[in-house]
Amino acid sequence: MSLPENSPNARTVASTQSEMTEIILPNDANTLGNLLGGRLMHFIDLTGAMAAFRHARSHVVTAAMDHIDFIQPVHVGDLLILKSSVNRAFNTSLEVGVKVWVEHPQTGVLLHVASAYLVFVAIDDRGRRQKVPVLLPETPNEIRRFADALRRREHREAETARRKQEQREHAGNDSPPVTR
Ligand SMILES: CC(C)(COP(=O)(O)OP(=O)(O)OC[C@H]1O[C@@H](n2cnc3c(N)ncnc32)[C@H](O)[C@@H]1OP(=O)(O)O)[C@@H](O)C(=O)NCCC(=O)NCCS
Repeated sequence: MSLPENSPNARTVASTQSEMTEIILPNDANTLGNLLGGRLMHFIDLTGAMAAFRHARSHVVTAAMDHIDFIQPVHVGDLLILKSSVNRAFNTSLEVGVKVWVEHPQTGVLLHVASAYLVFVAIDDRGRRQKVPVLLPETPNEIRRFADALRRREHREAETARRKQEQREHAGNDSPPVTR
């Protein structure tokens, strides 16, 4: 990377790192007392947006959230810990990784609950897309995530193109409802 770390057009991954801790309350849970999947996605979105905001220093909107597996149930009274950082910045968009753990309140044992990748787009005060600073990965893990993020972006683009092609092929196949 040619830009110095202190350039206004460059950020380190460390400068984007964000963390949120939530205690799970009955209002967050289903009838079994387990954290609702949608509520977990909400927390993931918020923690991801914090890292994206720290990178872009502008408004950010969620453009996409990748596939999520819910590995571990979370119960009322558990502590949920979410950590996020930017993996790679592109033009107006950036990819954020979010990892979630549950901390058992009595034992302090931490278990991995879910991981997700989100894409955010930077928006200025007038609602226009805005260029984001470049990201400077430093550690071996950051460099690996930086490379993986490009592969995921290519995969997303290919998937979007495939869906658009499918929609074009199916357009016109749907007959209007018959009315008498
Ligand atoms: C996200 C949004 C700004 C993209 O606008 P758009 O006109 O489709 O933008 P473009 O196709 O020109 O793409 C702009 C950037 O977004 C990225 N992008 C757009 N849709 C994307 C998607 N589904 N997944 C990943 N990246 C996406 C593009 O790759 C591009 O990135 P780049 O500038 O870094 O190369 C627009 O779709 C939007 O406002 N969506 C609603 C966002 C929102 O309200 N989110 C809250 C959740 S409901």
